[in-house]
Amino acid sequence: MTLNLTPLSGGFGVEATGVDLSRPVPEADAAAMRDALRDRLVMVIRDQELDPDRYVESMKIFGDPMRQHLSKLLMPEHPEIAVLDSRVANTTRDDGKVMPIGSRDWHTDHTNHPRPPKMTVLYAVKLPARGGDTGFANMQAAYAKLDAAEQAELATMKTVNSIEQDVGYVDDAARAEFGAAQVHPFIRTHPETGKKAIYVHPGKLARFDGWEPDASRSFVNALLDRVLTPDVVYRHKWRPGDLVIWDNRALLHVAHTDYDHTEGRIMHRMCLEGDVPV
Ligand SMILES: [Fe+2]
Repeated sequence: MTLNLTPLSGGFGVEATGVDLSRPVPEADAAAMRDALRDRLVMVIRDQELDPDRYVESMKIFGDPMRQHLSKLLMPEHPEIAVLDSRVANTTRDDGKVMPIGSRDWHTDHTNHPRPPKMTVLYAVKLPARGGDTGFANMQAAYAKLDAAEQAELATMKTVNSIEQDVGYVDDAARAEFGAAQVHPFIRTHPETGKKAIYVHPGKLARFDGWEPDASRSFVNALLDRVLTPDVVYRHKWRPGDLVIWDNRALLHVAHTDYDHTEGRIMHRMCLEGDVPV
């Protein structure tokens, strides 16, 4: 079996074939995959057949598993894994509207943590017949396109982040544990490459430090509308056996909800430990 790494688009993203994560991966291949993920920010590893044990074990190639706050979705025997099932993980909001999991805006993950995950992984367990793609946006490229004055202004801003109040998959204990507001830089510097990226989870953004909540949300929405252009986006169409891992320090992502949620789309999600954003 020979590892092959192939770019997925002109900008970022890489596909890995010829690797079997259900068995120990040779160190040379593991190192090549780490390098490719550092350079290309999202990696699609094709044709995997993983039980939860091997899934958790194999991701140690990339980092240490991190506790997730989606307490009601964690696999009892493998709490490192959250089961995102479109049939059961939806949230009914106060206004009666059903909000499918993952349908929120472009975001990075878990900004309500002091050390948010450096990477998130999704392993496709069941896919809908059509639809349900995942979008990725390169926020290093988006930031690089801004002029120097705007870059400098954004780099002074800090986000205040808290867990959403209207999601049903976080129990009271987890909400208490992970509920304290966390302040992060709006522009973060990648610890390995030194590249700067716009770093935000609009759903968890309580406000910018020193700003009013409404003005904060308006500002971030307007900025993202302007910078999330097609040239910084890769849209992943899932195939059975796909495992996708991405760098939360550089990318935003979004789940496309254009599929029948009663049909069932099941992803096993892991997060990997990250640093304090700077
Ligand atoms: Fe997410």
